[in-house]
Amino acid sequence: MKTMLNVALPKGRLGEKVYAMFEKAGFECPSIRENNRKLIFENEEKGVRYFWVKPSDVAIYVERGAADVGVAGKDILLEYQPAVYELLDLNLGKCRMAVAAKADFRDDPRRTLKVATKFVNIARNYYTSIGRDIDIIRLNGSIEIAPILGLSDVIVDIVETGTTLKENNLVVHETIVPISARLIANRAGFAFKNEAIETLLRELAAQTEVAV
Ligand code: PRP
Repeated sequence: MKTMLNVALPKGRLGEKVYAMFEKAGFECPSIRENNRKLIFENEEKGVRYFWVKPSDVAIYVERGAADVGVAGKDILLEYQPAVYELLDLNLGKCRMAVAAKADFRDDPRRTLKVATKFVNIARNYYTSIGRDIDIIRLNGSIEIAPILGLSDVIVDIVETGTTLKENNLVVHETIVPISARLIANRAGFAFKNEAIETLLRELAAQTEVAV
């Protein structure tokens, strides 16, 4: 019997692009395009079973072995440090983690810097690395509002096109790290299903080269 690979895909726009890449790499599952409420799809002949999960949950499924492989943003991997193997940069979902603030913001090193973010670990690590004292304000969304209302001095957030910042009169002050989608694997699964995962890895790597 063919080994079945359980693949966790991030639901949403990025997930569509990721699936298209898997499809081109020879791991198609036609039923996935026919039904948009169902969450699990499989193609036994190709040895793949896909499921759609919230992008920030992909690493949890993979870390705990409910999925053998998955695709997660580097932002999630840096923030939660899941115990998984990072196998490949898919070169999709490219953006950056940045510090943004009002255009006239000037950092006063005598004061503790107030930082609003969803990515508290990334923010903490960044400011530790430059020796800056901060007060973290953890938010869950609409982070851009925080400096406008004076809740924080700066934000640490994802910037893709820059439109959200622009619409809210904020500018990037520092880029912390570039972000893109990564193929990740469960550590035990990587050993048990090595042949199937290596084949998937090889075919996807060929696709990322075509895409460049
Ligand atoms: C992210 C991020 C910014 C926006 C940046 O939010 O938090 O708000 O995208 O993109 P842009 O530079 O192209 O405008 P996302 O849409 O992922 O949803 P979220 O608010 O749930 O974080």
